Amino acid sequence: MSYIHRNHAGELMVSDISVSALAEEFGTPLYVYSGDGFVAHYRAFCAALSALDVAVHYAVKANSSMGVLGLLARHGAGADIVSGGEMKKCLAAGIPAGRIIYSGVGKSDTEIRQALTAGIGQINAESAAEIRHISAIAAEMGIIAPVALRVNVNVDPGSHAKISTGQRSTKFGIPVADGEAASLYRQMADDPAIRPTGLAVHIGSQLTNLAPFEKAYLELLELADSLRSEGYDVPVLDLGGGLGIDYQGKSLPDFAAYGALVTRIFSNRGYRLGFEPGRSIAADNGLLLTRTHYIKQGEDKRFIIVDGAMNDLIRPTLYEAYHRIEPVTDKGVPCGMADIVGPVCETGDYLGQGRDMPDIGEGDLLAVFSAGAYGAVMMSTYNTRPEAAEVMIYEGKTHLLRRRRTVEELIKAEENPFG
Ligand SMILES: Cc1ncc(COP(=O)(O)O)c(C=O)c1O
Repeated sequence: MSYIHRNHAGELMVSDISVSALAEEFGTPLYVYSGDGFVAHYRAFCAALSALDVAVHYAVKANSSMGVLGLLARHGAGADIVSGGEMKKCLAAGIPAGRIIYSGVGKSDTEIRQALTAGIGQINAESAAEIRHISAIAAEMGIIAPVALRVNVNVDPGSHAKISTGQRSTKFGIPVADGEAASLYRQMADDPAIRPTGLAVHIGSQLTNLAPFEKAYLELLELADSLRSEGYDVPVLDLGGGLGIDYQGKSLPDFAAYGALVTRIFSNRGYRLGFEPGRSIAADNGLLLTRTHYIKQGEDKRFIIVDGAMNDLIRPTLYEAYHRIEPVTDKGVPCGMADIVGPVCETGDYLGQGRDMPDIGEGDLLAVFSAGAYGAVMMSTYNTRPEAAEVMIYEGKTHLLRRRRTVEELIKAEENPFG
């Protein structure tokens, strides 16, 4: 079920709370999340895999607001992180270190040391050089580092090039081809400073077809089985994230079909499984609210100029991503094509292009749907625009997760040696 819905009068609501009222109270642009929705999606993901021995690590990069992390921590989620900063946020939000998995190709020595000091559950290593660094740091600390190998299975996920990670041409993972991953796993097993915990794979994000998952998982399983047949311990297979959502808003992420695929491949194979879902938990549970400044008639279309911009939601211009955009209150039937654009001085500053929109006027509120993942986390202050505020509705209450900073606060964070 979706907690973001329209009431009988056609007014957009999150649970029982009108988003117009939230815009009045907190101003715009404003991210609004359904905390109940986050919990429901997390639970649905877990339920789809309940026949297996699994640990679910929410991919923090999708939405790392402290309130989101705190809520998911309260419901038992682990975390998949890609930086020391994300680790500190997770620990502060109450996610135990042992339930945190550390992914990413470029961990610094400081980050590795901090992760090992915290007692991180697992580091997913992505290169021979990284393993060398982890080993040296663990040896110096007199501890044994839990390390999984993230492998590259050379599978095209069929997603946008900028969020595809499964092919050999990308920087991610250690190739399975030519025995490279197997040989590094054996090397890790011989290293007294490393405890190999298994193998990991993540071929990309926003996968809307299950076939690439199946191909990648079968490759991973073959490698794991072959290492086991040589006598190596391979306790965990981390299957990554990547399950896509329907940005058109017509259907929910198909957790059941994904769960059935994973169950078919891995049941009774004797592996503990890890998952790193981000988008499928977060995206549909967030809206970006934006208010219309002006309408400008262009040569062949209207420009609806709003107060939300590419610094608030960069996905449309970065990935050519489509987000559904609708008026918050009913404005009648569409009356012609429009681009929904922000105030930032870039032609690429748009939230939507070529949309058949109703008669929107100055001051009207628009909602950008499916903005709960890879939205607020990518905000910047480009054009000296303070980041949007973030609020969450959970169990009927409104919680401010991020206060909008003032321009004065932005100025204060900088130094002017010439002033
Ligand atoms: C290593 C890793 N795990 C998990 C994820 C989360 O992916 P998604 O948000 O598509 O579920 C990502 C994002 O690309 C990732 O790089």
